[in-house]
Formats: sequence, structure tokens, C-alpha cells
Amino acid sequence: MRQLLVIVLAAGEGTRMLSSLPKVLHAVAGRPMVSHVLDAALAAGAAKIAVVVGPDHDKVAAEVRRVAPDAEVFVQSERRGTAHAVLAARSALERGYDDVVVMYGDTPLVRPETIGALRGPLAGGAAVTVLGFRPDDPFGYGRLVTQGGALVAIREEKDASEAERAIGLCNAGLMALDGRAALDILDRIGDANAKKEFYLTDAVEVARGLGRASMVHEAAAEEVVGVNSRAQLAEAEAILQGRLRRRALDGGVTLVAPETVFLSADTSFGRDVIVEPNVVFGAGVRVEDSATIRAFSHIEGAHVGAGAIVGPFARLRPGAELGQGVHVGNFVEIKASDLAPGVKVNHLSYVGDTSVGANTNIGAGTITCNYDGFRKHRTTIGANAFVGTNSLLVAPVTVGDGAYLGTGSVITEDVPADALAIGRARQVNKPGLAARLRAKLSAGLAPKK
Ligand code: UD1
Ligand code: MG
Repeated sequence: MRQLLVIVLAAGEGTRMLSSLPKVLHAVAGRPMVSHVLDAALAAGAAKIAVVVGPDHDKVAAEVRRVAPDAEVFVQSERRGTAHAVLAARSALERGYDDVVVMYGDTPLVRPETIGALRGPLAGGAAVTVLGFRPDDPFGYGRLVTQGGALVAIREEKDASEAERAIGLCNAGLMALDGRAALDILDRIGDANAKKEFYLTDAVEVARGLGRASMVHEAAAEEVVGVNSRAQLAEAEAILQGRLRRRALDGGVTLVAPETVFLSADTSFGRDVIVEPNVVFGAGVRVEDSATIRAFSHIEGAHVGAGAIVGPFARLRPGAELGQGVHVGNFVEIKASDLAPGVKVNHLSYVGDTSVGANTNIGAGTITCNYDGFRKHRTTIGANAFVGTNSLLVAPVTVGDGAYLGTGSVITEDVPADALAIGRARQVNKPGLAARLRAKLSAGLAPKK
């Protein structure tokens, strides 16, 4: 087993994003770009990950620690080029790994298989492997100069001759280096070029000078899309959504109109799930076998049990736990609540910070009043209970198993099991009063002579 060090360059300013958020923290499919890159590095079996961040990028460092707690973070205090950035991780390189792979934090769609493919030639003796691709417009990319099958140089746009600019095969940015030679190669790179930067791409010519070979591995342009602007962020999002929808379909999910369903990188589906059009899955959603998510629902941080039906027009917020066969219908919002198997909340309700026991029916227009303006409180409703239409449950409050709440109740006190509770004023009928009022009004409104 060859040991792998992945170095992620994430020191970019992201000027063209026009954002106060560091570029690599912008999300695709609900996950920061740098986290996608870390996921790929971990899945590719990295023994160590080093992330190079810019000065004042504490937020990037915090996200790295969250996703990959064993990763090391290095600060590149001055931006002096991609080779200079890699050398910010010098102490990691000095430990001596078999393979070193350099990735960009703003190139979020690279798959672990591709990292593996880049490493392949190193085991066969190559010093460097570069990920190549053929963009529609090569302008701005480093061109891969090849002789026979071998890569002999990478020429940056600003340094390229006219003949080199005509080359369609470009540098995607990912590079694998022989870990035993990497430091030696990197330390020999100079800054004698148009931008006066230390170019990582010069590793190819340096290796050649040392009598070592470099290779190209070609990837689809889609996989190596780099994000420098909001338009490119949207492009990456579209590509990743395509991949995630495909993964769901291949995993046995029916997406009636796939292009209208938005998924997160971590959305998980059982088999025979049906998702109707126009549904958004935020981060942290798990949907079990044979559940149906009906049109126009918005779901995040929620668990949908087997056979449950959600929507149309439902909102599940973080901490919504729906047991088997639960029904959550139109214009219903569930937050931080456990709904046991068979619970029905079919219309126009808000259920927050609540536990509901099995087979309880929550009538239309029910609201759990969980916030008193200062603190959140919990509502507990037992099993086999019936909550009448348009009830307000003022938390903290507990309703026992089998209890029955009358329509329009304001429940401020606990209700014992199997009790009937009516929490509203009694209706009063005053015979004839409406007619007398009407007569008075019409007399008063008659035109004056
Ligand atoms: C680089 C490549 C080019 C390739 C292109 C693909 C070099 C010299 N050129 O060019 O061949 O076609 O990417 O997109 O490598 N970074 C740092 N510190 C630095 C400089 C860069 O961390 O001092 C990071 C950036 O944040 C970015 C990545 O390295 O994530 C690439 O840098 P960028 O300036 O975008 O390089 P390009 O000119 O696009
Ligand atoms: Mg770039």
C-alpha cells in the first residue's frame, strides 16, 4: 500500500465572487466546495491531508477541522504562486509519503477514482502525473506540451508561444508527484516567468531535467470545472445536481421530473422512494423505503420513515423525525419533533419541539406554541390521541395517551390520558338579537328628509 499525502490549495482570495465569504466555503449541493474536495481525498484513501489557506482564513480552517479533523492546516501568508503554496506544507512533505497529490479547493467535482488514476503512473516510475482536459475554450489554462505519450512541459497562457496556444489539451490543476522526489523538484522551481510566480506546473520540466518522466491522465471537462465566479458556481451546481439525480435514480428512486429536484451531497434514499416534481432536499436528509415526497416540499435535517407521505407543500426542518407510515400534508411545518409511526398531520399545522405518540391524529390548523418570546418549550402528545381542528397547545404541556382535544381548544394545562379536554369559551346564542340589531342599523342609516 502506497501512502498518500493530499495537499489542498485553498489560499485564493476569490475576488471575482464579490463575497465576504472565502471562495472555497461557497457551497455546491449544500456543502462547501473545500469539503467536497476533502471528501474526495478521504475517499481516495489519503493517509494525510494538508490544506493551505490564506491569512485570515480562520473560517476555512474551522470547516477543514469539522470535515477532516486529522487534516493539517498551513497558512500561505503571501500569494506567490501554486508551487509556493504547495511548499507552505513543507513539514508534511518532509515526512516523506509515496505519493503526493495536489488539488484545488475551488475545483469541487473531482472524483476519488480520478485521484486514484493520477497516482497509477507514479507506481510505474513516473515523477509527475498531470490531470488534463479539453475545454471548449483553452484561453487562460496551462497547455500540456507532449512528445509521443509523454508530457514534456506545461506552458501558462502568458508564457506560451503561438504554437503552444494552439494546443487544446490543458492543465486542470490536479497533479500527482512522486513523494520521494517532490520536495527536491519543488525547491528547484523558480519564478522566471511573465507573472513572476512560482508555478507548480514547472514541476514537469524540472523533473525532465532530472531525467524523470511525466504523464497525463485525461478527465472530462465537467469533472474539473473550477469556480472563480458565481456563474461558475452555478455551473458546478448544475453538474453536481445531475450526478446526484443520476445516483438516486440508479439507486432505485423514482424522480418524476429529475431536473426539478434539488439534492444535497448527503441526501440518502431507500428503495422505491417516489419524489414528485419541485422538491428541495437540504443537508442531512434520510428517506426510507417506499416513502413518497409529494410536490413542492422543502426538507432539511430530517428523517422520513418507511412508507411515510410528505407534502405536497410540506416543510420539514432540522430534527423532524417521521416514523413509519406518518402522513404530513399540505402547508404543514415540522421542526425538532418526533412523530411516531402512523401519526397524521395532514393540513395547515405547525409542530415544533414536540413528541407525538403512535397513530395520533393532529387536526387541521393545529399550532404548538413552543416559544414564549424568551425560551423554547416542549409539547408531548401521547399515542392514539386526537387533537381537534385549530387547537393551540401552549408549551410546556403534556397530553396523555388516548386523550381527545375539542376543536378550537387552547390547551394550557396537561391533559390526562383518555380525557376529553375542551379549552375554549362556551358558545352563547341570543335569540332574535341579530334581527333587532339589523333593524336598528337600517333605521339609523335611512336618508334624512
Ligand atoms: C492554474 C495552473 C494552470 C491551470 C489552471 C487550472 C499554475 C501556474 N497554473 O492557473 O496551468 O490550467 O490552474 O484552473 O499552477 N493558489 C494558492 N496560492 C497561490 C496561488 C494559487 O493557494 O499563491 C491556489 C488558488 O487559490 C487556486 C489554485 O491555487 O485554488 C490555482 O491558482 P490560480 O491562480 O487560479 O491559477 P491559474 O492561473 O488559474
Ligand atoms: Mg484559476
